[in-house]
Amino acid sequence: MRIDILTLLPKLLEGPFADSIMHRAQKAGLAEIHIHNIRDYSTANNKQADDYQFGGGAGMVMTIQPIADCIEKLKSERQYDEIIYLTPDGETLNQGLCNQWSMKENLLLLCGHYKGVDQRIRDKYITREVSIGDYVLSGGELAAAVIVDSVVRLIPGVLNDETSALSDSFQDHLLAPPVYTRPAEYDGMKIPDILLSGHFAKIEEWRFQESYQKTAQRRPDLLEKFNRKSDEQ
Ligand code: ADE
Repeated sequence: MRIDILTLLPKLLEGPFADSIMHRAQKAGLAEIHIHNIRDYSTANNKQADDYQFGGGAGMVMTIQPIADCIEKLKSERQYDEIIYLTPDGETLNQGLCNQWSMKENLLLLCGHYKGVDQRIRDKYITREVSIGDYVLSGGELAAAVIVDSVVRLIPGVLNDETSALSDSFQDHLLAPPVYTRPAEYDGMKIPDILLSGHFAKIEEWRFQESYQKTAQRRPDLLEKFNRKSDEQ
């Protein structure tokens, strides 16, 4: 998979993909991440990429020309499955979208800044507008990093043990069960006996019950989805 990220602040994206799973995925050739500085595409003498808002109002707006030229160049080189704009007024990211996008070839992510991009960029190029939650970040860069991380780890072969993505929270509308490692007793705190029983089916049943209870307590909205899906099967 190839992911192109368009940003005014490329430095913000240097760290998140340089280590651990994201780094391994790139080294293994399973994911290619390209970061483009929108300002480099500005034809203005001072490389300006933002301007005042028509109609007045506080805050600058990202101008059309550098973004359009960058997107047009990239689109002339390959076909994008989705061109995603990160914005707090987009649809909320969820595991289902991550699953879908992990099977795509080419994604383009556009990070908004200031008051956002000129609406005409959204109208002409954007196929999806996505928020990572109901709070406002200084820009779309951290949201883009969240999307890349949550999508790339789902690409087959990226995780060592592929089943570990299947048992993530949300993958089946249930939150993940508790996990324990050695020692089996620490400062008087013991792990549940069942985990030492060696009885795999019973352990799986225990994990399911824990997941179910946690989801019922913390996210009854998810449990509704889980129950609906179970009824359908
Ligand atoms: N840009 C600013 N806030 C954001 C959010 N919550 N999600 C995506 N992009 C954003």
